[in-house]
Amino acid sequence: MLKAGPASLTAACPMAEMRFLGRFFVNLSSGRRSRRRYDWVRAQLRLPPGSEILEVGCGNGDLAARMAEGFALARCVAVDLDPRQVAAARRTLARRYPEGAPAAIEIREADMTRLPFPPASFDAVLAFEALHHAGPDHHDFERVSDALGEIDRVLRTGGALVYEDFVHTDRLRAWLTEHGYAIGPVVRRRRRESVIARKPLLRS
Ligand SMILES: C[S@@+](CC[C@H](N)C(=O)[O-])C[C@H]1O[C@@H](n2cnc3c(N)ncnc32)[C@H](O)[C@@H]1O
Repeated sequence: MLKAGPASLTAACPMAEMRFLGRFFVNLSSGRRSRRRYDWVRAQLRLPPGSEILEVGCGNGDLAARMAEGFALARCVAVDLDPRQVAAARRTLARRYPEGAPAAIEIREADMTRLPFPPASFDAVLAFEALHHAGPDHHDFERVSDALGEIDRVLRTGGALVYEDFVHTDRLRAWLTEHGYAIGPVVRRRRRESVIARKPLLRS
């Protein structure tokens, strides 16, 4: 069952919206790219069946569907700030599951810098090419660190942040290390990094 999200937050952060061409290309190649990403996450991340995960900046929702199926998740919430991307994700699910999407999958409109979930809600958070979009422009790290703070809040202790990005790569790892995360594995392709970072069980 697909759940409706809160009212649009786009007005609060208009610069974070992707332009038409950006959305077009992101959604166009998304199937092959999300299969590669899914295969990598599957090989690197241990998530017991029944786990609960969140994907921020979910785009067209293809990865979230693969995750929900492949990991037998109890809950897979995929959020995006842009209502057009939320609609695209709902269309992806409608095509993939003509009889109705699994109840575990929720698509919602939400801002990764103000996540509408209680603390410690998820075992893993995914952010693929999404974190640098948190800011009004891609060079602004302040909003990205707000997003990291929110992700940290909703992650359970020992939970994993799985991300891929090509902007702020050093600052992302620095923020996570400062907050006690164990970084690794890290895969680099040119400027792009794919990272799994574990939230500490205890924080000093
Ligand atoms: C480059 S796209 C990546 C989409 C998808 N993860 C993929 O790799 O195909 C970035 C996505 O982040 C979304 N986004 C931008 N700012 C956001 C925010 N503050 N909160 C949640 N999503 C956001 C955009 O609408 C867009 O769908």
